Amino acid sequence: RDRQPIVAIDGPAGAGKSTVARQVAQRLNLLYLDSGAMYRAVTWLVLERGIDVQDEVAIAELVQDCEIRLEASGNDSAFAAYPSRIWLNGQEVTQAIRSTAVTAAVSAVSAQPTVREVLLRQQQQYGITGGVVMEGRDIGTQVFPQAELKVFLTASVGERARRRQRDLAAQEQPAVSLSDLEQAIDDRDRKDSSRRVSPLRQADDAIALNTDGLAIEDVVNKIVQLFESRVER
Ligand code: CDP
Ligand code: CDP
Repeated sequence: RDRQPIVAIDGPAGAGKSTVARQVAQRLNLLYLDSGAMYRAVTWLVLERGIDVQDEVAIAELVQDCEIRLEASGNDSAFAAYPSRIWLNGQEVTQAIRSTAVTAAVSAVSAQPTVREVLLRQQQQYGITGGVVMEGRDIGTQVFPQAELKVFLTASVGERARRRQRDLAAQEQPAVSLSDLEQAIDDRDRKDSSRRVSPLRQADDAIALNTDGLAIEDVVNKIVQLFESRVER
């Protein structure tokens, strides 16, 4: 292998991917990259420009034209809740991409083939020398099928909705009821799993990890152990 190792972490919304992936990266001294932030950034721009989320032609043009910069890792305490800082056409959108409006629209935008093509290529560039933990929906299946370690994180919808509710409170965003959150999560899972291009799916060689009732630290320890027992530096 002529590059550093790659860890791919995939799974549905709220499974704990970003929290866990970031800590795994810190422990293993690798860079952390949140691929979902890139899909969110494109979606933010689509909404900002008033483009319909189903308008494939306008969105294809937009994504081919825009410049996205994702910062690897992130120990900046001011952005502790948003581990990956991200810029779009020179403007920082780290916080803006977490809005409820972006969350509701992101699955429709990220189902479009041109959006996936453009972001896939850029994500693969970020991993060219390896040494990264990247997290998303199709990292183990499409972005880095050659990753040395693939983990597929899951958790029940109820547990994921409760986590989301805690996150909203911590980020001082408006409160949403548990049943609305469950419905939003279900809806996004369904769209992400059923799209034609690169659907959310566990890679054949990924290790599935259900995180219901597990503390973050336990999940992180488990993945670090898997890495140490299976991956050569
Ligand atoms: O809310 P959560 O952190 O679970 O999602 P995210 O990782 O920020 O991703 C937001 C959305 O981007 C997902 O619901 C997918 O529609 C899309 N996405 C994708 O299609 N492929 C990826 N590799 C990552 C995200
Ligand atoms: O990135 P993804 O949408 O998969 O999930 P996340 O944003 O990392 O995690 C959602 C929330 O669940 C965060 O507040 C985490 O702190 C929390 N979490 C948890 O309580 N227990 C875990 N084992 C993993 C995450």
